[in-house]
Amino acid sequence: MHKTSPGTKPASFSKPESAREFEFTPRDFERVRAMIYRRAGIALADSKQEMVYSRLARRLRAIGIHSFAIYLDSLEKTSDNPEWEAFTNALTTNLTSFFREAHHFPILAEHVKARRDPISVWCAASSTGEEPYSIAMTLCEAFDSLTPPAQVIATDIDTNVLAVGEKGIYSADRLEKMSSERAKRFFLRGKGEQAGLVRVRSELQNLVSFKRLNLLSDSWPITGPFDVIFCRNVMIYFDKPTQGKILSRFVPLLKPDGLLFAGHSENFLYVSEDFRLRGKTVYELAKSGAPSGSRLVGGEK
Ligand SMILES: C[S@@+](CC[C@H](N)C(=O)[O-])C[C@H]1O[C@@H](n2cnc3c(N)ncnc32)[C@H](O)[C@@H]1O
Repeated sequence: MHKTSPGTKPASFSKPESAREFEFTPRDFERVRAMIYRRAGIALADSKQEMVYSRLARRLRAIGIHSFAIYLDSLEKTSDNPEWEAFTNALTTNLTSFFREAHHFPILAEHVKARRDPISVWCAASSTGEEPYSIAMTLCEAFDSLTPPAQVIATDIDTNVLAVGEKGIYSADRLEKMSSERAKRFFLRGKGEQAGLVRVRSELQNLVSFKRLNLLSDSWPITGPFDVIFCRNVMIYFDKPTQGKILSRFVPLLKPDGLLFAGHSENFLYVSEDFRLRGKTVYELAKSGAPSGSRLVGGEK
């Protein structure tokens, strides 16, 4: 096992502009903002200037470019420049944890227990894998088997986090809040040089497949319909028109009685009439003829 990077990027510290290694003008920031918005839908707030500087300065250093303007020019010149991937990876925020927003997982378990066909779940912004593995653990527990009739497709735009998820190796402290029974059932503890690390058991790993998918892209390399879609804590980075477009594309990918899970601060009722609330941040398709009370904008059942 190898040491893995945690789900967050290194912290950035504010430096006076004069102490910066590279010149970074307001125009450079505006260019970055427009470029990442077009590529990934990520809408960066004004307050993110320092974060953008520190994350992209690492790229400039890595490839030996001494000016933001030259770096951005070289990206804009060719849409298939491989540096676009590193640029995008640098600007995503990947904070996640096992069983984050824990109230969702018993709802998932109940939902899948009632079903007869093999279960298919899409985790649409999976970051470093803690979320899709939490889904897979829940499926194993629901079916009381390490090989339940189920699969989880985990996607993200960021290729670095997908690689971490695929490896399934984490710092042991990521399991601190997990029951020891669960941790023992689904993880192997590293010894010797690997002490302090845990590895997802192969049975769990086999349930999850990782793939790059940009929610903004015109084509999504997945086929539904899914019993469940997890799309948590990513819509907050998008503006409302982008959120609405993505939600309308979820509709044909969800089974008629499927569930859509959102993050704690995301409210899809403001941007889509296709879904209605079924519980706290859990949505179902709004079928025609269904009672309209639950479609009140901003309301939660
Ligand atoms: C804050 S993390 C949330 C992770 C997980 N869903 C959770 O709730 O713990 C947001 C993730 O969204 C991904 N992301 C950002 N823009 C995206 C896009 N356009 N398409 C797909 N994933 C994107 C980021 O790379 C990041 O891993």
